[in-house]
Amino acid sequence: MQTKFLLDESQMPKYWYNLQADFPEPLPAVLHPGTRQPVSPSDLEPLFPVSLIEQEMTTEREVEIPEPVQDVYRLWRPAPMFRAHRLEKALGTPARIFYKYEGVSPAGSHKPNSAIPQAFYNREAGTRRLTTETGAGQWGTSLSFAGSLFDLDVTVFQVRVSYNQKPYRRAVMETYGANCVASPSELTAFGRKVLAEDPNHTGSLGIAISEAVELAVQDPNTKYALGSVLNHVLLHQTVIGLESMQQMEMADCWPDVIVGCTGGGSNFAGLAFPFMGHALRGGEKSRIVAVEPSACPTLTRGKYAYDYGDTAHMTPLTKMHTLGSDFTPPGFHAGGLRYHGMAPMVSYAKELGLFDAVSYTQRECFEAGVLFARSEGIVPAPEANHAVKGAIDEALRCKLEGKDEVILFNLSGHGHFDMAAYTSYFAGELSDHEYDEQELAMALSGLPSVSL
Ligand SMILES: Cc1ncc(COP(=O)(O)O)c(C=O)c1O
Repeated sequence: MQTKFLLDESQMPKYWYNLQADFPEPLPAVLHPGTRQPVSPSDLEPLFPVSLIEQEMTTEREVEIPEPVQDVYRLWRPAPMFRAHRLEKALGTPARIFYKYEGVSPAGSHKPNSAIPQAFYNREAGTRRLTTETGAGQWGTSLSFAGSLFDLDVTVFQVRVSYNQKPYRRAVMETYGANCVASPSELTAFGRKVLAEDPNHTGSLGIAISEAVELAVQDPNTKYALGSVLNHVLLHQTVIGLESMQQMEMADCWPDVIVGCTGGGSNFAGLAFPFMGHALRGGEKSRIVAVEPSACPTLTRGKYAYDYGDTAHMTPLTKMHTLGSDFTPPGFHAGGLRYHGMAPMVSYAKELGLFDAVSYTQRECFEAGVLFARSEGIVPAPEANHAVKGAIDEALRCKLEGKDEVILFNLSGHGHFDMAAYTSYFAGELSDHEYDEQELAMALSGLPSVSL
């Protein structure tokens, strides 16, 4: 009974895969926040180096992974894929469950897959400092790690609720040499405005992004880095799916079902896009399921519309599933899933019917994560618990239907910095937020009008 499916370093992908090449129609245009007309590459230059802007816009199917990036990836990649024999047994399911484990990276999640190339391209372009936001702390940690390797200063705005919940994430960022600030902060005009209105504001990813962008646009040597959502971030994450395809072949099977959790969409896309592209080019088709929290139900209850990526409305407008850029999700424990929007490429794939989306409350996700930990040994990040829950439900469906389907899910990170959340769960202190229609309508009423 083989448990681990391991690739040799020589089998690590040399190219990232771009789903844009296989979309039947191009993605809807990205719009300038002021003119609301399509942006040109130069509009994005205050924020990103030219090489990343090119990756944002390219429709080439394969983008070469630079050797210095591959060299860092080799610290933990190829990442292992496991067969969850003990979880299958605990569930009594005939399904075969596999998981790709991204928690083996130095930061503990999939996030360095994009942090490393973003730091590399910025370094090449002469950038001295990067600013960014972080929710759970996983992305901030990853960019801090990447900054330390490529000699860049990093300033991280961490959503205040996570900053307070997870002091050790901040300590790790500082160990890598970064400066971690609770957002909203006094460092930016936007942060000061939010605090003036509500000194106890718990923050949101949308606010943290506005603060990071504000600092970047003020200084030509400072650029901004985003941990999810953008096309180039999703592109970098496809190493996950490309490796998994080889590992499924090693296991002599192909996934009937693929499951990933979605915050901004990057780990889900990383696993699923190479399989979606394979099917779009006439290969085997897998059923793909995105899992999101009921308290921030972007894909299942949001609207597919043009919206801002941040709360201060400084970012370009993209067409995506959104709950409205003013939406502040409740302070539940999967901080990395508390974003009002969804990656435009993931949103577009949803509109094309390339995958299904479901939502779960946090308590049922923790319950799934605890069962996983007790059978497989790894304590998942609260975000990843959503994928675990999705995979378990698929396996239970297989049990009911008597089917031995192959299920592959992305275990996007470990939860070693999230133990306070587990402690609250065991103490019965977690509540499930109900998100009512009125709240949803309110949040969506502020969407910008766009005449495209
Ligand atoms: C472990 C983990 N999984 C998932 C996510 C969600 O982000 P994304 O949808 O971009 O993968 C995060 C975000 O912080 C995370 O830390």
